[in-house]
Amino acid sequence: MLTDEFGREVTGVRVSLTDRCNFDCVYCHNEGLGDTRGPMDPQDDEMETDDIVRFLEVAAEFDVDAVKFTGGEPMLRQDLAEIIERTPDGMEVSLTTNGTFLPDRADELVDAGLDRVNVSQDALDPEDFAAVTQSGAYERVLEGVEAALDAGLDPVKLNMVVFEQTAGYVPEMVDHVARNDGLQLQLIEYMPELTGRPEWNIDIQRVHDWLAEQAVEIEHREMHDRKRYWVSHDEAPESGRGMVEIVDPVENPTFCANCHRVRVTHEGYLKGCLNRNDDLRSMGDMTKQEIRETFRETVANRVPYYGEYMVQNGDGEWEVNDEYIEGYAG
Ligand code: 5AD
Ligand code: SF4
Repeated sequence: MLTDEFGREVTGVRVSLTDRCNFDCVYCHNEGLGDTRGPMDPQDDEMETDDIVRFLEVAAEFDVDAVKFTGGEPMLRQDLAEIIERTPDGMEVSLTTNGTFLPDRADELVDAGLDRVNVSQDALDPEDFAAVTQSGAYERVLEGVEAALDAGLDPVKLNMVVFEQTAGYVPEMVDHVARNDGLQLQLIEYMPELTGRPEWNIDIQRVHDWLAEQAVEIEHREMHDRKRYWVSHDEAPESGRGMVEIVDPVENPTFCANCHRVRVTHEGYLKGCLNRNDDLRSMGDMTKQEIRETFRETVANRVPYYGEYMVQNGDGEWEVNDEYIEGYAG
């Protein structure tokens, strides 16, 4: 297991397989790379299947036990099932997708070893959805969610980015997961970095407060210091409960302190943090031994991004800065 200078163990990797996407979400941070999304044709700057597998094998040697494949839209990679199939045994495989290709391929991916899926869905109304994603594929996404559930990926997590345009849709999205077994909702605080629109920020604490009023139960998770709100449906409280989580990297002062992931860009650059591009390390054409070294260096250089989270105590060890926690009720 590799641990960075701030005591954070690296247990997961997030691998971007392509920066191509068939949507054009207004909020997209494109994995921190800025707007590099190009045409839909295969690009020669994407990592080859073998490069991805070689990297995952090294990660497994360092006891990384989870990989999340992302994009762009990772399902635009025709070799996705092969990549999943060749992921080292024992590594949990999850996928973040816009869902449009799930109707045809969910079964294939589950057969290959896919364990979990997050589908981006920011609105329930087709017109609202189209305005956010700048795409008309709403029906396909709903079919995709169904296909994932049918293929045995239960629960399916819906990712919703909460910002000016979508904040008003939170109640109907919460109601939607409360009504539908198998669906969970992940509300993601809008990250303005690299999208260039800070004015779209909203105060995520208001969403916490609102959910706390709605919830029948609140649970606390250590991973990224997240809360889980369990909600039931007003008209049918007996129909089960829905789970809503808030991911709030900007506001939550302990978020980065609990970050256990390194990232890989579609071109094969290792990154210690989504929001930092100052320490990119390319893995192009590397031997396994070189990848091991690169991985170690990336972890050694990881620095928390948001806020002044961490302070050094008398023994020189890093710990979470209590002053920042006090003002945070989330
Ligand atoms: N802020 C927060 N989350 C974002 N995502 C993309 N751009 C942003 C942003 N600016 C997340 C969404 C999407 C996933 C691919 O990345 O949750 O589902
Ligand atoms: Fe970006 Fe994901 Fe939307 Fe594609 S679906 S534009 S990758 S947020």
